Amino acid sequence: MATKEEIIQERLPRHIAVIMDGNGRWAKKRGNQRIFGHRNGVKSVRETVEAAAELGVSYLTLYAFSRENWNRPSHEIDALMSLLVSTVERETKTLMDNNIQLLTIGDVQGLPFKVQDKIQEALDKTSANTGLKLVLALNYSGRWELSEALRRFGEDYKAGNVSGSPDEKELNQYLTTSHIPDPDLLIRTSGEARLSNFLLWQLAYTELYFTDVLWPDFRKENLFEAIVNYQSRERRFGKTSEQVVRNKSKNNAPQYG
Ligand code: FPP
Repeated sequence: MATKEEIIQERLPRHIAVIMDGNGRWAKKRGNQRIFGHRNGVKSVRETVEAAAELGVSYLTLYAFSRENWNRPSHEIDALMSLLVSTVERETKTLMDNNIQLLTIGDVQGLPFKVQDKIQEALDKTSANTGLKLVLALNYSGRWELSEALRRFGEDYKAGNVSGSPDEKELNQYLTTSHIPDPDLLIRTSGEARLSNFLLWQLAYTELYFTDVLWPDFRKENLFEAIVNYQSRERRFGKTSEQVVRNKSKNNAPQYG
């Protein structure tokens, strides 16, 4: 398992995104209900946020609830919503103590009012914090975000506010992540190797890291391991290896955030 000391500070990923997967299987292995896995997943959320803040990562995005998750049994959805409310309520002080700003992406207005209120409270309270930005993806999906962006662009076009041929930079302004840089590293736990409709536009040049660890078992050391692995890779952004080695300072992906 990797240690914090193995991480090269100068090459820290600025933005890490996480698909927290495997809660249900973790619980099942223990003969428990799926919600038991989600509850234990909160400990991993805490560890990951703490570790990212300690390291000096700028953005951490967690896929907490996808639009597709509405297809789960209603008792599991209710339990996940309650868990979200209680966790945000309980952890807002921790966010304040650690100068962490909470942000959200996704269709938050489609969540139950109680959840919206709690989230809004935490967003307001932490809005002046200048450390890690913790982004919760709530009622989010990549295709939803892209179709919303196109719909809103269409409205602006009809109103005469924009020209009819937007470039990538202009389209990026319509995404819920318009002020957030693209992720450098995506982690998915539980041995599944797919994107599940997460940040489809933003992950264009992101390094993908898949681990068999189930989310409730994910600890700081697992995050360090993912970062060490990321740092061993050469990010080429379409260039040749020789170009990248020759001119490291220009080794940047197109960034709109
Ligand atoms: C995926 O595991 C996990 C989720 C859909 C929810 C993740 C939520 C939490 C960890 C708790 C609340 C989060 C915050 C940020 C307060 P799964 O149920 O798909 O697992 P499985 O693939 O084994 O069934």
